[in-house]
Amino acid sequence: MKVLHSVNEIRQAVRAARAGRPTVKVGFVPTMGYLHKGHASLLEAARKKSDIVVLSIFVNPLQFGPNEDFSRYPRDEQRDLALAKEAGVDFVFLPSVDDMYPRPTKTIVSVSEVTDRLCGASRPGHFDGVATVVTKLFNMVQPDFAFFGMKDAQQVAVIQQMVDDLNIPVDIIPCPTLREEDGLAMSSRNVYLQPEERKQALVLSSALRLAERLVKESNGTIAAEELQAAVKQHIEQSPLAQIDYADVLTYPSLEPVTDLKAVSSIIVALAVKFGKTRLIDNTIIQL
Ligand code: PAF
Repeated sequence: MKVLHSVNEIRQAVRAARAGRPTVKVGFVPTMGYLHKGHASLLEAARKKSDIVVLSIFVNPLQFGPNEDFSRYPRDEQRDLALAKEAGVDFVFLPSVDDMYPRPTKTIVSVSEVTDRLCGASRPGHFDGVATVVTKLFNMVQPDFAFFGMKDAQQVAVIQQMVDDLNIPVDIIPCPTLREEDGLAMSSRNVYLQPEERKQALVLSSALRLAERLVKESNGTIAAEELQAAVKQHIEQSPLAQIDYADVLTYPSLEPVTDLKAVSSIIVALAVKFGKTRLIDNTIIQL
């Protein structure tokens, strides 16, 4: 496994790995580090589908708002590198902020409409930061496939839209959310949770299971509004939970929905704060 820091180094390494081997497929897993089993599952999917696996670790300042957790975002380079090695990564791209943004960027990739709601609404500018850094990373690594976790379902929809609109030659591979045994979706931010918050955070996954059950039991006839109200009410039973959003939308277009019978797929998407920690989770229900 090679650890590379500069844009030139990663470009040259991937180019050399492809040299004279036109069928070589490069799989790419972009991350912000502090890797957990969810990331390991993305790397495993990349390993299965690709000849060369590239992992990037970069906490991207552009996607954090002024009052968000950029400076305190958890980091552990040594642990990340050990996990990457175990997962069979070929190249780790670990740039500094200066490597990625040697000058203030005057070009921003901005995806409209799919960013209007959910995290796009509660974290203004967040998806501009994501779309811009992912475009840069795609240009640097030039992968055939890129693997993203469905815990960030809106991010997957935004990146798929961007790749389609800009004809970026990368196949986006969505991968299932990995959960702790008790149902909590794996996230680097879970380490912030105090013991009582960690207990009450289970309300996210139980609210999603409730939504799935209500849709199933009503044979898809439940009104979206009623579904949303039931999910909110369930979360509100946890005294430490502060709901940022609990929405029912179409997926992947992320548009409002009233009649579930009129659409083929919905997302029940949650963002809930426990103290300073904001957790997201979702379920996609095929109708
Ligand atoms: O999902 C993430 O970790 C980040 O948003 C990504 C895709 C690595 C871009 O910084």
